[in-house]
Amino acid sequence: MAIKIEVDGKNYEVEEGKLLDALIDLGFDIPHLCYHKAIGSYGACRLCLVEIKENGDDWKIVTSCSTEVKEGMKVRTKSQRIRELRRGIVELLANHTSSDIVKELASLYKIEVKGDKKCVLCGLCVNVCSLIGISAISFENRGIERRVNAPFGIPTEFCVGCLACTNLCPTGAIRFENGKLIVGDRILAEHKLLRCERCGKEVLTKKHHEKLGIKEILCENCKKLVQAKKYFGSR
Ligand code: SF4
Ligand code: SF4
Ligand code: FES
Repeated sequence: MAIKIEVDGKNYEVEEGKLLDALIDLGFDIPHLCYHKAIGSYGACRLCLVEIKENGDDWKIVTSCSTEVKEGMKVRTKSQRIRELRRGIVELLANHTSSDIVKELASLYKIEVKGDKKCVLCGLCVNVCSLIGISAISFENRGIERRVNAPFGIPTEFCVGCLACTNLCPTGAIRFENGKLIVGDRILAEHKLLRCERCGKEVLTKKHHEKLGIKEILCENCKKLVQAKKYFGSR
């Protein structure tokens, strides 16, 4: 059902759901680091702040990733208040981190990037791992010491190497190299890799293969080739 909202003085019709998704679908540029539609709201980065007004109440500041759109809602995405708050958040990020996405945001606000870490503590890696029911990795410590790690800082046996975490990471901080899942200088898990039966390219981890329960081990290219052969071969 279409819902009528007003954004920055213009009227729109949007689908029900999260305000951030609606704003992005409408083409508004709302920075966000910790939200993914498939994972849901986490509220860690605060970058997606907007002002909303409902039922004649005063304007209030909300995180758009955790706010549902409502009929008649008025939204301000770039008011002075929002710009100042967002600038402060970007400044904090730039003081501690230096991923490409942070550099991009910092350049918009002419902020110097002084940090050297890549991880912005958005939580997407930890949350997706928990969502798929594995919970192999988590946050440890607090404040500026907070970081993603395997339990007890020892490479974990629980990781299956599905790479959902590396695929969702907005900064490239968590990565998979030569069978190792790594964040910063920490090895979170180590894996035996299996090769494509046709071309020999390393395709997936042994544990992920066992979990998926698939018979053939094929890379994406060889999979397409085999499918095409089956299709055209049967004509
Ligand atoms: S690769 Fe490992 S840590 Fe990452 S989501 Fe999959 S199971 Fe979790
Ligand atoms: S490693 Fe990536 S996904 Fe995980 S918390 Fe850091 S920035 Fe977010
Ligand atoms: S995207 Fe909304 S708080 Fe991070």
